[in-house]
Amino acid sequence: MLNVVVLVSGGGTNLQALIDSIDNGNVTNAVIKAVISNKKDAYALERAKKHGIDGICISPKDYKSREEFADAMLLALSDYDAELIVLAGYLVIVPEKVIKEYAGRIINIHPSLIPSHCGDGYYGLHVHESVLNRGNKVTGATVHFVDEGTDTGPIILQKAVEVMEDDTPQTLQKRVMEQAEWHILPKAVDLIANNKVYIENNLVKIIK
Ligand code: GRF
Repeated sequence: MLNVVVLVSGGGTNLQALIDSIDNGNVTNAVIKAVISNKKDAYALERAKKHGIDGICISPKDYKSREEFADAMLLALSDYDAELIVLAGYLVIVPEKVIKEYAGRIINIHPSLIPSHCGDGYYGLHVHESVLNRGNKVTGATVHFVDEGTDTGPIILQKAVEVMEDDTPQTLQKRVMEQAEWHILPKAVDLIANNKVYIENNLVKIIK
């Protein structure tokens, strides 16, 4: 069993997709040990509670320095024996110390086809606004490993989604979640939990 810890900041629909996929057997050999939020009132923590999963808040605001925040995070991750960290709508920059300690064991979901519409400032609705402003006909979502950069780590899975002419950032965000994010995030966890993913020359290979 792969011990998964999910980091969240908001509603947690991606967390829910993962919980459901574990419950219905689409994801095997993985267990969510805890959900960590930087916001006390994140609805994702409610979702965790409803499923009997520990939900805790570790906010950078509660620590004097980034160093202390990083240490608190590392302590919690080790308490839960984390083997895979899933960033599911986590809006805090993960401290370098944590990235180094868990190299190759942190994944993130981003709501565009990387390398388009990603990097600093591209989060939430900004991503979909950018897609609409550029007039893209296709967008999607990407699951990737996390390295020290913003959205720069090796890509694990991507799924394309059609952009409609009458889309707003909100309608596009919803379609990208429903058609892409909620599928590829659990799929990536399943592949990792079943040892089907490895990195070679900074590129992800998936064992069929
Ligand atoms: C998703 O769009 C995800 O791609 C992005 O943040 C959003 C989180 O949504 N990183 P939720 O909290 O999972 O509902």
